Amino acid sequence: MSKENLMNTYSRFNLILDNGYRSNVKDINGKEYLDFVSGIAVNCLGHANLKILETINKQASKLMHVSNLFWTEPMIKLAGKLAEYSDLDQTFFCNSGTEANEVALKLARKYGKLSGGQNKTEIIYANNSFHGRTMGALSLTGQAKYKEAFSPLVPSTIAVDFNDTKSLENAFNENTCAIFLEPIQGEGGIVTIDKNFLETARDLCNKYDALLVFDEVQTGIGRLGTLFAYQSFGIIPDIITMAKGLGGGFPIGACLASKKAAKAFEPGDHGNTFGGNPLACSISLTILDEIIRANLLDNVNTMGAYLKERLYALKNKYPLIKAVKGMGLLLGLELAISPKEFQDACFNNHLLLVAAGNNTIRILPPLNVNKSEIDEMLLALEKSIKECYLT
Ligand SMILES: Cc1ncc(COP(=O)(O)O)c(C=O)c1O
Repeated sequence: MSKENLMNTYSRFNLILDNGYRSNVKDINGKEYLDFVSGIAVNCLGHANLKILETINKQASKLMHVSNLFWTEPMIKLAGKLAEYSDLDQTFFCNSGTEANEVALKLARKYGKLSGGQNKTEIIYANNSFHGRTMGALSLTGQAKYKEAFSPLVPSTIAVDFNDTKSLENAFNENTCAIFLEPIQGEGGIVTIDKNFLETARDLCNKYDALLVFDEVQTGIGRLGTLFAYQSFGIIPDIITMAKGLGGGFPIGACLASKKAAKAFEPGDHGNTFGGNPLACSISLTILDEIIRANLLDNVNTMGAYLKERLYALKNKYPLIKAVKGMGLLLGLELAISPKEFQDACFNNHLLLVAAGNNTIRILPPLNVNKSEIDEMLLALEKSIKECYLT
C-alpha cells in the first residue's frame, strides 16, 4: 500500500483508521483511540450511528442521486425543516462548506447589484477568519498563509479586524453588499464574536442594505447548544452557510437565506450536480430528528458545561493551559506550547484532538458524548499535559 499517489496537501496523523463506534476509532492494526476531533466538528452523532445506517440503507436502496433536473421528497422536506427551525426561508444545497460560501458570495453580489446598482459589490470579511479553500471563499479568508500562493483572488473584498467595531464602521459604505462572519472563529483559534461587534454589523447591514452572512459551517447544527449558531447570539443573519454537522459524516452543504435575499437568484444563476441528492438530504433529516428526539441540545449544554468546568480546573493546575475558550462542544485550550506538539502528546496517549490557529487545541466531541467518555478523555488529556509540562 503506497501513499505516493495522493497529492501532498495534508500533514496527516501517522495513523490509518479503519472503523469506529460513537467517539472511539480503531486503526488497521486494531489500536483504539478516543476521537474528540469528530472529523473536525462533523460526526455529530459519532461513528457508526444506527439511525444513520438505517437511513443510508433505506434511502440508498430507493434512490441515491437523480440530479437537480428533478424534485425529490428528502430535498423538499429538508429545506422545509431548515426553514421551520430557523428564521430564514429558502435553501440552496451543495456538498461542502466552501461551496456553501461560494453560493452566499454569488447571492450577495447579485443582491447588491439588484438593490444598489453595478458598484454595490464590496464584501467585508474578518481578519483571522476561515471560510474555505475555493477561490471565492479563500478571498474572504483572513489568513495570509492560506491565500498568498493563489493570488490574485476575487476583487472587492475588504478585511476588518474581528471584534473591532471601529474597523467595521470604517469599512461599510453604500457599495457594501455583504459581510461574512463566523460566530466563533474555529480554524482561527476558537475566538468568539463580541456581542457589540455583532450588533454593530447587523445595524450597519440594515443601514446600507447589505447582507449579514453567518458562516455556521463549524458552529452550526447543535454544536453551540442551539440548533443554529446564530440562536446563541440573538441576532438574525440574512444568510447562513452550513456543512460539516449537517451531514454527520456524509458530505452536504447548504446556503440558507431570507426570502428577501434569496429572491435575487433565478434559474440558471447557480447550480451543481450532486447538491440536494436524496441520500445526503435523508441523512440530514435523520440527524435533525435525532438531535431533537434525543434532546442533544440539552446534552451539548450539560456536557459542554461539565467539560468546560473540568478544563478550567486543569487550567488552574497547569500553567501550560493559558485559557479555556469556546461554547457548547466547540471548546479550545490556548496553550503555552505549540498545539501541534500537544496534539502529538495526546496522540501518543491515544487521544485525537486537532490544533486551531497557532496556539490552540480544539476539543470537538460528538454531540451525544456522555460523561464517562469525557472523563476518559480528561484522563488522557491530563496525562499529556503532565508529559509536556515535565519536558
Ligand atoms: C467556518 C468554516 N467555513 C468553511 C469551511 C470550509 O468547509 P469545507 O472544508 O467543507 O469546504 C470550514 C472548514 O473547516 C469552516 O470551519
